Amino acid sequence: MGVTLLTGASTGIGRSLARRLAARGEAMALVARRGELLDSLVIEIEQAGGQALALPCDVTDRDALARALASAEAELGPVTRLVANAGGGEPTFVDGFDSAAFEAVIQLNLIGVANSVAAVLPGMLARGDGHLVATGSLAGRRGLPSAAAYSAAKGGLANLMDSLRIDLRGRGVAVTLLMPGFVRKHEPKPGRGKTGRRRSKPFRVDLEYATARMEKAILARRRQLVFPLSLAVAIGLTRLLPFGLDARLLAGRGRRRPAAAQPPRTRL
Ligand SMILES: NC(=O)c1ccc[n+]([C@@H]2O[C@H](COP(=O)([O-])OP(=O)(O)OC[C@H]3O[C@@H](n4cnc5c(N)ncnc54)[C@H](OP(=O)(O)O)[C@@H]3O)[C@@H](O)[C@H]2O)c1
Repeated sequence: MGVTLLTGASTGIGRSLARRLAARGEAMALVARRGELLDSLVIEIEQAGGQALALPCDVTDRDALARALASAEAELGPVTRLVANAGGGEPTFVDGFDSAAFEAVIQLNLIGVANSVAAVLPGMLARGDGHLVATGSLAGRRGLPSAAAYSAAKGGLANLMDSLRIDLRGRGVAVTLLMPGFVRKHEPKPGRGKTGRRRSKPFRVDLEYATARMEKAILARRRQLVFPLSLAVAIGLTRLLPFGLDARLLAGRGRRRPAAAQPPRTRL
């Protein structure tokens, strides 16, 4: 079985995917910034009979990533699969548009993936065998409200993976882009979700449902996974609306700028 380097392994989608791939017999090199969360995942995977290594590191730091890869390969062997999953970001607001915050989202979701690819690709090309996987988002399908940075980053990521797929044709390295819609990471808290002050996210799916679909697409080395179909179709349809109707339909549906200093985190 191969060795998979998975970024964003400490929580959410990455943590669940790491458990799943480890259960399939893949040795897991786990990257995220919070080492203690990675350590607890390593213990969990080892107790279930798998193999894993914690590599605390920031994906926006390309030298740190290169060092993490060297440690992974020294300990586990050549990395045969990358799952570049680290990502996320704060909402973008037109009032007080902040280009530094914009840059941080691009750094994490786009440059972080490029850094991860740069670390593993030379070895894969030399061996003529490998698999590059990235977690994009349906938010990359079009600009969504209060998501200028995140939509731009995930849209850029989709094009990055498309170009790699073309350029790597015939070189033994497969490319997979995962594009989920909203993924629920926890059960809704009382007073939130459908009945609470926070708007429910449309067509949101459960974490384990999402990662089961992602696992299947990874193992099949599918070109792309887009889900849920209902949200993908809805987003696609907004692009077809004439006369600026899409802006009318979507305006005001994003996150509101919070009065407090701490803006809420956004995900799609
Ligand atoms: N949840 C959704 O609705 C949804 C929908 C579509 C796409 N996605 C995408 O799915 C991926 C996983 O998101 P999630 O929902 O599972 O969110 P999450 O629980 O917040 O996971 C994000 C992961 O990325 C890691 N990370 C963040 N910044 C990092 C950095 N600079 N260097 C290394 N690791 C970093 C985090 O770990 P540390 O903080 O420990 O570094 C964490 O493990 C992201 O790419 C996200 O854009 C999510």
